[in-house]
Amino acid sequence: MDFKDCIAPVADDMRAVDTLIRDRLHSDVVLINQISAHIIGSGGKRLRPILALMAARAHGDATDKPVLLAAIIEFIHTATLLHDDVVDETERRRGQPTANANWGNPGAVLSGDFLYSRSFQLMVEADDMRLMRELADTTNAIAEGEVLQLMACGNPDTDEAAYLEVIERKTARLFRAATRLGAMLAGGDEAVQQAARDYGHNLGMAFQIVDDLLDYLADPQVSGKNLGTDLAEGKPTLPLIRAMQVGGSTEQRLLRSAIADGGSDDIESVLRAVESTDAIHYTSAAAQRYASAAQSALAHVPPSDYRTAMSQLADFTVSRTL
Ligand code: IPE
Ligand code: IPE
Ligand code: MG
Ligand code: MG
Repeated sequence: MDFKDCIAPVADDMRAVDTLIRDRLHSDVVLINQISAHIIGSGGKRLRPILALMAARAHGDATDKPVLLAAIIEFIHTATLLHDDVVDETERRRGQPTANANWGNPGAVLSGDFLYSRSFQLMVEADDMRLMRELADTTNAIAEGEVLQLMACGNPDTDEAAYLEVIERKTARLFRAATRLGAMLAGGDEAVQQAARDYGHNLGMAFQIVDDLLDYLADPQVSGKNLGTDLAEGKPTLPLIRAMQVGGSTEQRLLRSAIADGGSDDIESVLRAVESTDAIHYTSAAAQRYASAAQSALAHVPPSDYRTAMSQLADFTVSRTL
């Protein structure tokens, strides 16, 4: 089942989300318009807003409120990408040059601030303190996750627990907020919201683990991103952490110095060292476990096309190439 088929139940809703995003992107500052149109116009999977909508619709919400929630979530996500690409010194995203590559770091950072603060304006329109509280906590946790990751870059002693802590904050929190708030808007009680949150959390964990594998293994034509960005930053992601743990002393030395020194010269030998261990299999098995846990959380959701799609999206998350 491909991604487009999975998301069919919310296709109409997503058209409304797209219109809302484009309407609310506008600024009278020319450079902001250029940069935000560039990143929004280059697409993206829109996975987080899709999940927010599915969680709401699966619990019976038939109003427009989840459309606004979905747009807010995508604004936050896009702001984090603009900032993340500056921090990661990334040059390609969504098959195009990144905003920092085209306009430089200052323009990308400041336009990210614009998108963040535009999301706050939209939250005020939603006029729901529960939503504001969850998203305030979420954006705060994402920032902490990105800074925790910055502190781990170049540190070959980062272990799996520290890695999981980083990805929980920088990625899983937004997935979790999307699905929990979807269920909340639908009027779900605490138990319903908790199950939706568990689904989003586990899906987000799986999603980032696979992203970290794809940084080594993807076809850049399909993923739209360059390979080896994580290694260039000395980012200790799960494939390397596992390979250092189980590899022989030659592999350990090579991987430790690749993380400590950063740079992309070593990518071939790093990949060979990783592939000489079970690290690829171990990493995808970890992603699969989180995806299965996401599917288990769906047992608390009433059966519907939306629930089926949410289960398929968990499969997509682990098998994806983009
Ligand atoms: C990229 O997210 C950032 C991560 C958390 C890995 P996506 O892969 O969802 O990015 P787009 O929006 O589809 O481009
Ligand atoms: C996700 O991590 C970053 C955010 C949650 C903002 P990555 O740095 O791996 O994401 P990509 O690979 O640049 O999309
Ligand atoms: Mg990045
Ligand atoms: Mg990545």
